[in-house]
Amino acid sequence: MQKTVLVTGGTGYIGSHTAVELMQKSYNVVIVDSLENSELSVLDGIEKITSQKPKFEQADLAERNATLKLFEKYPNIDAVIHFAAYKAVGESVAFPLKYYRNNLNSLMNVLEAMALHEVKNLVFSSSCTVYGQPDVLPVTEQTPIQEANSPYGNTKQISEEIIRDFLHVTPSIQAIALRYFNPIGAHESALIGELPIGVPNNLVPFITQTAAGLRKELSVFGDDYQTPDGSAIRDYIHVVDLALAHVKAIDRLFNGEAKKTIEHFNLGTGKGVSVLECIQSFEKVTGLKLPYKMAARRPGDVEQIWANTSFANQELQWQTQRSLDDAMLSAWNWEKRIRKI
Ligand code: NAD
Ligand code: WQD
Repeated sequence: MQKTVLVTGGTGYIGSHTAVELMQKSYNVVIVDSLENSELSVLDGIEKITSQKPKFEQADLAERNATLKLFEKYPNIDAVIHFAAYKAVGESVAFPLKYYRNNLNSLMNVLEAMALHEVKNLVFSSSCTVYGQPDVLPVTEQTPIQEANSPYGNTKQISEEIIRDFLHVTPSIQAIALRYFNPIGAHESALIGELPIGVPNNLVPFITQTAAGLRKELSVFGDDYQTPDGSAIRDYIHVVDLALAHVKAIDRLFNGEAKKTIEHFNLGTGKGVSVLECIQSFEKVTGLKLPYKMAARRPGDVEQIWANTSFANQELQWQTQRSLDDAMLSAWNWEKRIRKI
């Protein structure tokens, strides 16, 4: 029988791409989102790609009653992918309670509702931010977690602990925490992509908005890091590859292959790329010249991090298939479509 996956935060950036891949693998998808950081029009994009409209509910999962009601309305949920969270690091420093309240309450409400309704499978959106600046690169899932450098990062660490502790007393639930590195790019169709509200927080939307003329120039934060070209290094993963890893994680849970009550997986490409290399890739695939200047380091940034992805490659039978160039081109095609360029 067709399985049903509840995708929380499913009109958001990663959630919408994952909903598409799930639907294309014949999963039945229910999306719930508060629409605080996304738009209803995302559902049209999903429908155009998949020729189906996913079921959608607007609800704030940080509200316990709304969450319980949602699970009552959909009694046949087989798995939850919990994307819904606030994600702006800087904002979390300014408004820590807002972040703890939203990110932790929504998770606890979802866990409570899952237990009540005997939903057995959870995939949780975690982040490479839990590793801070690791001593040894690339980072494996065994790399020690470091003290979080923002309330946002702390919500991811605490969330993983909440899941671990809850599953300890609720062994019927299995969970996979996916630690994303830096998701970038958009669906190849340019029908869905990243829609930052206000000033973007992340590098690639900043690049595409600068190229689109919305911003004068890009500041490259830091030119004196101990890296080959002096700019900071990250592991940028195409959002469609990331979405496909969620399908594999869901398959793993449904196939009963998960080995522990909570498993952790790094999701990246396994390759470190500098900010200047990102700019070069963007310029190469678009043929545009990006205005940028070197600037001071951004407070709180780590110098370099990239993933060892062996565990995900083996256990999820998953590999990234898209390059940095593919991601940059898709991000630009998406920016052009939304700006009508
Ligand atoms: P996003 O903001 O595009 O999507 C999150 C969605 O959740 C939004 O549509 C928002 O409206 C919704 N939401 C927030 N709080 C909610 C609530 N209480 N109830 C219902 N809906 C709520 O973010 P994204 O980039 O798609 O990130 C998805 C998840 O992945 C988040 O948990 C984020 O922390 C995590 N993550 C993101 C990145 C990244 O760089 N994008 C990296 C690592 C981890
Ligand atoms: C990447 C690189 C910047 C903007 C953040 C969160 C992390 C995770 C992923 C959720 C850095 C540089 C950026 C600009 C620049 N999210 N940069 N000019 O900082 O690796 O991680 O998103 O879990 O928790 O902290 O991503 O895209 O902001 O930055 O030079 O205008 O680009 O300094 O080196 P980051 P990012």
